[in-house]
Amino acid sequence: MSETIDFDALFQHGRLYSGFDSEDEQTLKAEGGKLLPHLQSVTDQFYAALAHIPDAQPFLEGRLEALKKTHVAWLQTVFSGPYDANFAAHMHKVGEVHVQVKLPVEFMACGMIQISRYLIPVLAQVYAGDSDTLARMMKAINAVTGFCLILMQESYQSSLLAQELEKFMSITGISRALFNNLAAAYKD
Ligand code: HEM
Repeated sequence: MSETIDFDALFQHGRLYSGFDSEDEQTLKAEGGKLLPHLQSVTDQFYAALAHIPDAQPFLEGRLEALKKTHVAWLQTVFSGPYDANFAAHMHKVGEVHVQVKLPVEFMACGMIQISRYLIPVLAQVYAGDSDTLARMMKAINAVTGFCLILMQESYQSSLLAQELEKFMSITGISRALFNNLAAAYKD
């Protein structure tokens, strides 16, 4: 499915909807390194919070340590970039992995909210006495996590449409070729 996606367009879409702009990119590139030593602790707190959500348990059991590793690696990319079509493609792929394991979509927003929850005290500590940079970092982190969320949710949306279409074709017996012809004929 991913081969047919225009990731440049998706990158621009994510930027527009999240407000993730060039100033945010510069801020994250300049300041992100200061947060790297804290990302393991943010991740540990993230999974400790998920441990209180019963519906999350089937997705965590037996793979918590592996998930923590991929999660820290992902957070590192968020704070180092580069922020381009490949970044958009990566976030879309991460969304697809969650679709494949059938993780309910609300866990995407839940995850991002937990990340902000544990990053905020880190920011307060790292930027104590420097409210200008603190404000710029909060704006940038809000934008980049919103960007990632939008891209991951986009995967859910396109997968859901594809699944519905498969179901429709299997119920009606309509082939994909016929469906494509009908869709082209009724485009408007
Ligand atoms: C902010 C939200 C989240 C982000 C950014 C995130 C990030 C990731 C990444 C980077 C991967 C690896 C993708 C790959 O293999 O290419 C992954 C896989 C996965 N995540 Fe998440 N995750 C999020 C939320 C969650 C939550 C809330 C849960 C569980 C309740 C979860 C469960 C999983 C599972 C089960 C996998 C697949 C692991 C496997 O392949 O065995 N994720 N996630």
